[in-house]
Amino acid sequence: MKEWQILMLNQQDVINTGLLEDMTGVLEKVETVFRLHGMEQVENPPKTMITLNDPETGDWMSKFIAMPVYIGGKINRPGIKWAAESMTNARTRELPMGIDMVILSDPVTVEPKAIIEGTLITAMRTAAATGIAAKYLARKNSEIVGCIGAGVIGRTVIQALVEVFPGIRKVKLFDIYKEKAEKIAEEFQGRVNVEVANSLQETVSESDIMATMSTSTRPLVKKEWLKEGYLITQLGANEVEARIVTDSDMIVVDDWEPIKHNHLSVFYPLIKEGKIRDDHIKLLRHIVCGKIPARISEGQNILYSSRGMGCLDIIVADHIYKTAIEKGLGYNFKMWDKPYWI
Ligand SMILES: NC(=O)c1ccc[n+]([C@@H]2O[C@H](COP(=O)([O-])OP(=O)(O)OC[C@H]3O[C@@H](n4cnc5c(N)ncnc54)[C@H](O)[C@@H]3O)[C@@H](O)[C@H]2O)c1
Repeated sequence: MKEWQILMLNQQDVINTGLLEDMTGVLEKVETVFRLHGMEQVENPPKTMITLNDPETGDWMSKFIAMPVYIGGKINRPGIKWAAESMTNARTRELPMGIDMVILSDPVTVEPKAIIEGTLITAMRTAAATGIAAKYLARKNSEIVGCIGAGVIGRTVIQALVEVFPGIRKVKLFDIYKEKAEKIAEEFQGRVNVEVANSLQETVSESDIMATMSTSTRPLVKKEWLKEGYLITQLGANEVEARIVTDSDMIVVDDWEPIKHNHLSVFYPLIKEGKIRDDHIKLLRHIVCGKIPARISEGQNILYSSRGMGCLDIIVADHIYKTAIEKGLGYNFKMWDKPYWI
């Protein structure tokens, strides 16, 4: 009879694997998992979510999301991300808005093998997914990026876009808290010119690629501000106005079911009104694996909207687990010496 141990990796262990300096590696893993998923080698069932509302305002206060996954092929890894978001944290800024954890299991014996702090993984993989979307969907000659939201994801999205488009001259960054944008601008000094923007319109109107990753609960970006041939990537649920959804030439998503059924999303009323149908939507994984074409012309206007997929976390977490074993990071927590009942 066998003992069961779980490798516990806290945030510092995750940092010590080199994750934060390795956006290139994360981009490569995220692209791999989109390709495997497009080739039907990933099981990524719809996430299950619990939402708690603020008893006074009725607005959502916190969300808890279970994201089980199996990645096939050479990865061969089952796992789950237990994700959570808090609007209170976003307001008080004492804790990150999103706090996540990943569990990786053995595909044969089913023992959970690792419990990994998932917040940094989320930030890196979310940004890398945006980077991969931009790789396939943005104009190749894109030079100016506009970003709305200078939080955790805002920082990594800049990292990913600069990595995918080394020719980027300028990033315009807007946040309602100017000091947050200024801090990120300072961090990127010497790597890319991040200019703090004074308004939403100024951020959008100059940009070839737009990325929104704010905690706003109302639309921020107007269609008339966008440049012809745009790519706008929306990471929140309803940061773009409805006209961007109805008037873009192509709508691409990471996963349609969770977006389609999210009653807070900009898509929801449009689906109810019959203005958006399933056949309007393309999946990024089908583009990455070559089943459908990416951008076909300079003038094409494209919306990419993401809600996040567990398979992105599991592929990155699997790499972290292997690196941690190589580097001797974390500690083993024993669940049993031998099973009590068998
Ligand atoms: N699609 C995905 O895969 C995915 C994954 C993780 C997070 N997200 C989403 O990304 C968003 C950002 O997450 P985060 O962890 O970076 O949060 P965060 O709280 O760290 O950052 C959000 C930023 O948005 C700013 N903001 C709020 N309202 C704004 C407005 N009206 N105009 C400009 N800026 C505004 C805040 O000041 C803050 O700096 C959230 O909506 C989250 O749900 C998406």
